[in-house]
Amino acid sequence: MDRYAVIGNPIAHSKSPRIHTLFAQQTGQDLSYEAILAPADGFAETTERFRAEGGKGVNVTLPFKLDACKYVDELSPRAERAGAVNTIVFHPDDTTKGDNTDGIGLMRDLTQNHGIEIKGRMILILGAGGAVRGVLEPLLKASPAGLVIANRTVSRAERLSDDFADLGGIEACGFSELQQRSFDLIINATSAGLSGQVPPIPDDVLHKGGCCYDMFYTDKVTAFQRWAQQHGALKALDGIGMLVEQAAESFFLWRGINPDTRSVIATLRSWNPSSSTST
Ligand code: ATR
Repeated sequence: MDRYAVIGNPIAHSKSPRIHTLFAQQTGQDLSYEAILAPADGFAETTERFRAEGGKGVNVTLPFKLDACKYVDELSPRAERAGAVNTIVFHPDDTTKGDNTDGIGLMRDLTQNHGIEIKGRMILILGAGGAVRGVLEPLLKASPAGLVIANRTVSRAERLSDDFADLGGIEACGFSELQQRSFDLIINATSAGLSGQVPPIPDDVLHKGGCCYDMFYTDKVTAFQRWAQQHGALKALDGIGMLVEQAAESFFLWRGINPDTRSVIATLRSWNPSSSTST
């Protein structure tokens, strides 16, 4: 049986083992998938140990996506652009390749699962951490009318907009500069929701008929989803679909098979019915 794992800290909450086990059952693949806790300064060592035990590949989650970038022998173009790795393939010739499936995971959930168009739309991203770095390339390549990154620390948003300016129209600002502006799609990538908060954005920043997407998820409706529902969002979505879609792309990189994601998303939601989100 081929072994895979997700490595992070903390890791107990991870849904990846359940998702990959469902993919394996559905596609008849003989594999196991476990969650491994690595010490804060021990990503490379933990990964090496798993590899030495015969592991075929790993997913990487917080806080190790940058460590994983340095660990691998080779980076895919999208991982290089993102500056972060969430999937590693251990090749039989002992080399390792790092990839990043977060961006494609978000795009598939937005466009295929929820029918949200990016082309010609004004997009607002809240937050400027590593989670945003992973999704900017595919969002900009989908030709939005414009993309604004608003962050509490404006310099971090500016850094991102400089790094990705070659791919399309991108602006950076603070939350207070969003007055008088409105957007068709607002994506929350801040961790404010962990403490039940929503970034201080104007009440009228969501265009009528616009959609909101929270890249995070909990077992309940997130604070940003609640904000979206209260501010007339057509759809108020959480990040469960992105999680499953990025996992599906990792599964494809390892096994060469595309699992059916919709049934897996539905199964995860049936385990946590209160996280069901589309309004
Ligand atoms: P990740 O890699 O998951 O994106 P991160 O790099 O720690 O994590 O980024 C967290 C993001 O949430 C940042 O944009 C952070 O804003 P700062 O750059 O100003 O720190 C944002 N954030 C965290 N708590 C927040 C809060 N209470 N209100 C608004 N933004 C918040």
